[in-house]
Amino acid sequence: MIPINKPLLGEEEINAVVSVMRSGMLTSRTESGSMVGKFQDAFQRFVQAKYAFAVNSGTAALHLSLLAAGVGQGDEVIVPSFTFVATAETVLLAGGKPVFVDIKPDTYNIDPEAVEKAITGKTKAVMPVDLFGLPADIKPIKQTAKEHDLIVIEDAAQAHGAEYDGKPCGSLAHLACWSFYASKNMTTGEGGMITTNSDEYAKNLPYMRSHGEKEEYVSSIIGGNFRMPEIEAAIGNEQLSKLPGFLKLRCNNAKRLTELLEDVEQLQLPTKPRGGKHSWYLYTVRLKGSNKGRRDTVVEELRKLGIGATVYYQVPIHLMPLYHKFGPCNLPITERAADQVFSLPIHPAVTPEQISYIATSTRKLLE
Ligand SMILES: Cc1ncc(COP(=O)(O)O)c(C=O)c1O
Repeated sequence: MIPINKPLLGEEEINAVVSVMRSGMLTSRTESGSMVGKFQDAFQRFVQAKYAFAVNSGTAALHLSLLAAGVGQGDEVIVPSFTFVATAETVLLAGGKPVFVDIKPDTYNIDPEAVEKAITGKTKAVMPVDLFGLPADIKPIKQTAKEHDLIVIEDAAQAHGAEYDGKPCGSLAHLACWSFYASKNMTTGEGGMITTNSDEYAKNLPYMRSHGEKEEYVSSIIGGNFRMPEIEAAIGNEQLSKLPGFLKLRCNNAKRLTELLEDVEQLQLPTKPRGGKHSWYLYTVRLKGSNKGRRDTVVEELRKLGIGATVYYQVPIHLMPLYHKFGPCNLPITERAADQVFSLPIHPAVTPEQISYIATSTRKLLE
């Protein structure tokens, strides 16, 4: 099976992990761990942010950012429903209420006009997601946020290497959250990062990441254990140095797949970002005019042929049992996308021959 995504680890990562183990310095709690510091510095430079704070997952990055933004009981946070559950789940963990809005049919990203319409006196923040690696249209969202005094927390978990308006994703948001889960464009196994240009958030985030302790064992602000272990950061340093190469291969594979599928009428291929760059985390196509049953059959047939076609996200968050109480929601574009899209493998280990095989097999199935 050609998997939909796969971590690419080499001797460099293995040696880096072994050297941390030999050093005996496994945690960054005392700030003496050098791997976390090095990783933060390198990632901060990569995304051209003023600050970067490593944490132990993308979910932790979102949760901690919401806490840092002061989201709590009674606050509403505007989120898309067509995303991984962590985007909304962390709003609940912070004590807030997720308010789901619809997406644009071509990009699958949150609709800036829908964001504006959903604002109430209780809205505290908005969380655009760079879904599948395509940058969310953050400029109009930032403008609306400015007018209504809202905090923009960008879920950039899938956007390593993506650019908006010629700048790395995340740079326009107040806080941007990244994931290094095993399937991502670069990985630490599990892990995450928060980037920000705000001195104010940067003042508290390092303490909040570690129980809000400004002095050892004395908590002065809310926090928890969100720390990234040294071993993960050691893997992250090696992966980050390989990321430009990974991105190039993903981009070449995506380009080739588009050339080979361009004339297949039934498929809506991924949109090219205007003035930006896709991170090509996922190559997601829409089976135009289909229903869930037909889409699922095509995915099943592709999998029988050894192609790890996968559906992200079958059940939009507002339709999940835990989230029924925040509805009913009128999100027709989200629900249609959830029934019609599927993703094809383009990760760096997919060869040009495999890309041709994926394209030929998809065409044949649809003919
Ligand atoms: C859009 C999105 N948000 C949040 C997350 C959560 O990241 P993690 O799995 O590292 O907690 C992920 C990744 O799985 C994601 O894809």
